[in-house]
Amino acid sequence: TYVVTENCIRCKYTDCVEVCPVDCFYVGESMLVINPDECIDCGVCEPECPAEAIKPDTEPGLEGWKALNAKYAGLWPNITARAEPPEDAAAWDGRADKLAASFG
Ligand code: SF4
Ligand code: F3S
Repeated sequence: TYVVTENCIRCKYTDCVEVCPVDCFYVGESMLVINPDECIDCGVCEPECPAEAIKPDTEPGLEGWKALNAKYAGLWPNITARAEPPEDAAAWDGRADKLAASFG
């Protein structure tokens, strides 16, 4: 499965949802997550993210993000259409410790 990671926070470009063939993205206040039970591992979303926030779960060190995606996919609503990113998305792109600075 693929996983949405830290750099989605406050960037939330939503280009990813347009290409997912199984509509398995879910949306919270500050980021999106992928439902690991629905993702078919096609990989088409990964290059679509301008923030490079989508990773295959085979990459090392993603355990926390895998758990976060699985948890919030069950709590947040589905999103299938692109939405306007936050006005300050570019300013947040690449910032370190986004999870600690802003999540929820
Ligand atoms: Fe959707 Fe494919 Fe990305 Fe999984 S890898 S979230 S199925 S676009
Ligand atoms: Fe987030 Fe990238 Fe999608 S910033 S909303 S994972 S296009």
